[in-house]
Amino acid sequence: MTFKPVNFSLASFKKAPIVSLQGQPVLLFNQQHLTLLEALEQKKVSTFSECRNGFCGQCKTKIISGSVSYITEPLVTLEADECLPCCCVPDTDIDLDLSVDGAEIVVRAPKHKQHQASESVE
Ligand code: FES
Repeated sequence: MTFKPVNFSLASFKKAPIVSLQGQPVLLFNQQHLTLLEALEQKKVSTFSECRNGFCGQCKTKIISGSVSYITEPLVTLEADECLPCCCVPDTDIDLDLSVDGAEIVVRAPKHKQHQASESVE
């Protein structure tokens, strides 16, 4: 019996896209999320949705940067900088024109403030 190592090429490891809202990173999109809408809802991001299937257009969202792929073909006319989060997934890191107000996000203190906090403990 011979051991044959699995050939993992770098291409087989795709980095989970970072989803940001108006420049604020909010989540990592991974295999637990079926759609971008589901991922946003999990983080309590305020979005509109109705059909959740790409035909009503209620979830139409502006993309500031990044790109998406569609799971089902949208039946709504979209501009080049728009997406339907209910039926797409991010291809790359993506920045959406949605507010972070009310969203569950982890905001880290700037490095210099963390350093100051540890100095005061010593
Ligand atoms: S919720 Fe209807 S198109 Fe997204």
